Amino acid sequence: MLSNSNMKTTFLFIFTFLSLQRFGSSINFTSNVTCIVTERQSLLAIKRTITDKHNLLSTWSGVECCEWHGVGCDSRKGQVVKLDLRRPVPWEDFNKKWLEGELSPSLQNLKHLRYLDLSMNNFYGKIPEFLGSFEHLEYLNLSGSGFSEGVVPHHLGNLSRLQVLDLRSFLTFNDRYYVPFFAPIVDDLRWVSSLSSLMYLDLSGIDISNHTDWFHPVNMLPSLLTLNLAWTGINVPSTQFVNFTSLNSLDLSMNFINSTIPLWLSNLTSLMHLDLSINSFHGNIPGFIGTFNSLASIDLSYNSFDTSMPDLLCNLSSLVHLDLSYNIFSGPVPSNLGLLLRLEYLNLRYNHLTGPIPASLGLFSKLKKLDLSGNSLVGVLSETHFTNLKNLIHLDLSLSGLALNFSSRWIPPFLLQKFIASSCSNIGPYFPNWLHTQTHLQWLDLSNTSIRGTLPEWFESILSHILYLDLSNNQIGGKMPLFHFNTKDPIFYDTSLKMNSNKFEGPLTAFPSNVKLLDLSDNLLSGEVPQTDGTMNLTLETVNLSKNRFTGNILEDLCKVPSILVLDLSQNNLFGVLPECLGNLSSLLAMDLSNNTLTGLLPSSLGSLTELTTLHLHNNRFEGNLPLSLQNLMSLVTMDIGYNFLVGEIPFWIGENLSRIRILNLQSNKFTGKIPLHFCQLNALQYLNLAQNNIIGTIPPCFANLSGMITNEGNIRYNIHYYKGTTAYRIYNYEENIVASMKGIQLVYTKTIKFYKSLDIVGLG
Ligand SMILES: *[C@@H]1O[C@H](CO)[C@@H](O)[C@H](O)[C@H]1NC(C)=O
Ligand SMILES: *[C@@H]1O[C@H](CO)[C@@H](O)[C@H](O)[C@H]1NC(C)=O
Ligand SMILES: *[C@@H]1O[C@H](CO)[C@@H](O)[C@H](O)[C@H]1NC(C)=O
Ligand SMILES: *[C@@H]1O[C@H](CO)[C@@H](O)[C@H](O)[C@H]1NC(C)=O
Ligand SMILES: *[C@@H]1O[C@H](CO)[C@@H](O)[C@H](O)[C@H]1NC(C)=O
Ligand SMILES: *[C@@H]1O[C@H](CO)[C@@H](O)[C@H](O)[C@H]1NC(C)=O
Ligand SMILES: *[C@@H]1O[C@H](CO)[C@@H](O)[C@H](O)[C@H]1NC(C)=O
Ligand SMILES: *[C@@H]1O[C@H](CO)[C@@H](O)[C@H](O)[C@H]1NC(C)=O
Ligand SMILES: *[C@@H]1O[C@H](CO)[C@@H](O)[C@H](O)[C@H]1NC(C)=O
Ligand SMILES: *[C@@H]1O[C@H](CO)[C@@H](O)[C@H](O)[C@H]1NC(C)=O
Ligand SMILES: *[C@@H]1O[C@H](CO)[C@@H](O)[C@H](O)[C@H]1NC(C)=O
Ligand SMILES: *[C@@H]1O[C@H](CO)[C@@H](O)[C@H](O)[C@H]1NC(C)=O
Repeated sequence: MLSNSNMKTTFLFIFTFLSLQRFGSSINFTSNVTCIVTERQSLLAIKRTITDKHNLLSTWSGVECCEWHGVGCDSRKGQVVKLDLRRPVPWEDFNKKWLEGELSPSLQNLKHLRYLDLSMNNFYGKIPEFLGSFEHLEYLNLSGSGFSEGVVPHHLGNLSRLQVLDLRSFLTFNDRYYVPFFAPIVDDLRWVSSLSSLMYLDLSGIDISNHTDWFHPVNMLPSLLTLNLAWTGINVPSTQFVNFTSLNSLDLSMNFINSTIPLWLSNLTSLMHLDLSINSFHGNIPGFIGTFNSLASIDLSYNSFDTSMPDLLCNLSSLVHLDLSYNIFSGPVPSNLGLLLRLEYLNLRYNHLTGPIPASLGLFSKLKKLDLSGNSLVGVLSETHFTNLKNLIHLDLSLSGLALNFSSRWIPPFLLQKFIASSCSNIGPYFPNWLHTQTHLQWLDLSNTSIRGTLPEWFESILSHILYLDLSNNQIGGKMPLFHFNTKDPIFYDTSLKMNSNKFEGPLTAFPSNVKLLDLSDNLLSGEVPQTDGTMNLTLETVNLSKNRFTGNILEDLCKVPSILVLDLSQNNLFGVLPECLGNLSSLLAMDLSNNTLTGLLPSSLGSLTELTTLHLHNNRFEGNLPLSLQNLMSLVTMDIGYNFLVGEIPFWIGENLSRIRILNLQSNKFTGKIPLHFCQLNALQYLNLAQNNIIGTIPPCFANLSGMITNEGNIRYNIHYYKGTTAYRIYNYEENIVASMKGIQLVYTKTIKFYKSLDIVGLG
């Protein structure tokens, strides 16, 4: 279900934290009482069945159990009423700094519990049925708590005082990563209807698609204020009577719902937050939405709305957050948009909007984030548009159609963290001078903006916070500055340096530190591939230095950067033999060393690159036999070793072991013998080139049956699912041949090769 990593975060997440304070505040906790002996013993029993590697429960000793971490007692009677074992700041913590183990049944002795938070831990087994016995329980948070077996016990339906039930089972961080948790099954939702005090219900990430009738039980909850059903596989019911008319917050995102906006929404007149993103909602934005006076945030992104941009939204004077991105809204941006004086976030990214940007844009003095990218707008944004935008921190105008016209003396009123202006006209030929004031930049993209010349002297001084820098596809020359990205925690950012397709020249003295994606391809860089001096934090995952003038050997140094996933050094003047230690790059997914003058035998250590999916070695001077160890490369999809001096019989083991091979190019080597019948087992094969070898015999008849052969012309695409640790999740999406680039919110390696329509054994023999 997670395959759509193109998803964006739900803003409601932030409001979740606000609600927490609200719901927590009705309970008075104090530690100024002596705790009850039996309750202390129960707590100690709970501690005993938990593995607490990181001493999160180190305070759990002595008699004053009301002072223990996470424990709260009633101020008069000293009963334990609160147990908060939530793991703090989970997304900065992939070292499993959590509590792990069984949840002891002794917990049920804490009969007065009103607040129980076990979230973000790793408890084993099922959600215990006895949780249903806490008759005073008001707050229950089991989000990401580990319980993943069995079903959610219907006993929870006994919690008649429950106000908050959070079973959310995925986590969003940095607006772009979704970490799913193993979740228990919800086999029936009827028990929910007896939670008569419930104000907050979050089942996001749990598959309840089997319950066509999720609505009825939820509709028995007239006090409901927050309903989060993101990524649950639900559909919307059509005509129903809505009971929960006090609802403040509704999240139906990520359900791929194909519907118009349901009419029953019109009765939710207290709505403050509405998230319908990542569905297939279509049709008109109904007029009643324009009457929701309290609406502060509305997210309709990633849907199929194809009308003109609704000006009724301009009636929503409370609106703070408006996201219409990734729809098909067309026509002009309504001129009365300027009525939304509270707007802080406006995202119109990737629609079909046309016409000029209304001058009222300049009225949004609270605006922090503005994204107009990917539209067909016309006209010029000038200094006057920005005069009042003192709070602006994110500005994305890439591919918007807009031109920028700022004088070189302009001092902007804002301090941007993100400025994305890829393909905007009227930016070059000089580097925009006003940028020298923008010393807080984290993301800067000026790719394809006709900038020429060298980088200005002040350029490095604006980079002290940079995480993403893209100046690709310009004509910038001169020496490449030595970049060092600063990030506390590079694991959680796709730190990227993209200077490809420019005219940078001279040597590259070092790899930048804390950068994951490095693309310097298609420049005039020369000298040796830099050494890694061991003092810097090299976090490189993608290294693309192709299409330059690098010379020398591939140094053993490179083997000391085990984070590398994609290595592209093709089209340079590299020579010498491949170091044996390359086999240490055990995470390598793709390696392209083609079009160099590398010599010698292929090191047998290559066989330990078991994750390798793509191997391009063509047009070098490799000689000798293919090492037999390559039969271990079971993940290999592309093997391109043409134009070398490789000898020996055509390796039959390719057919035997490399069953995922789709592209096999052995062209122009010195292979001998017959086409092995084993190749008939290569069911995925789409391209085979054995031309210009010393092959004898005929094409095995079985080749007529190979099922993988391309029927449509085009590129081959395939996804590589890559798991880091147990939870972090990414998708590397490949297309074969050419440059690795970073696009949007996921890493996309785009490679293009012309494929033959069908099997082509060109010039056999
Ligand atoms: C439940 O816990 C999660 C993770 O600790 C937290 O993000 C969420 O805000 C909590 N839910 C509520 C309603 O407090
Ligand atoms: C919490 O304390 C306040 C005064 O500090 C009091 O008015 C309120 O009734 C108490 N609530 C509970 C649930 O004891
Ligand atoms: C804590 O208890 C002590 C003794 O019972 C009392 O003197 C003190 O005022 C209490 N403090 C608070 C903050 O209630
Ligand atoms: C709690 O709910 C379960 C299942 O719904 C039921 O069997 C049980 O009798 C209930 N217990 C109490 C104490 O109400
Ligand atoms: C949905 O129902 C089908 C058939 O009854 C069952 O096989 C499947 O496991 C159910 N899925 C979930 C998530 O409950
Ligand atoms: C609305 O809620 C009340 C109280 O829970 C319930 O009795 C009634 O059946 C509900 N109406 C619908 C249509 O579900
Ligand atoms: C909405 O409210 C109106 C009047 O308050 C009522 O007549 C109508 O049935 C309600 N519609 C829904 C779908 O709840
Ligand atoms: C939505 O449903 C309509 C009609 O059933 C169908 O034509 C359309 O392809 C669907 N859209 C999506 C994105 O599934
Ligand atoms: C928007 O507001 C205007 C004037 O305040 C009003 O005439 C119009 O009916 C409103 N539109 C909607 C859809 O509520
Ligand atoms: C840019 O602004 C200057 C001075 O304000 C003006 O003379 C020029 O015509 C503008 N250029 C464009 C393309 O709008
Ligand atoms: C390397 O990383 C560590 C820990 O993340 C950090 O303390 C140190 O400053 C970093 N060094 C450099 C040169 O960035
Ligand atoms: C790379 O090598 C291939 C195969 O010899 C050749 O066709 C191609 O032109 C070369 N590319 C460049 C840019 O030299």
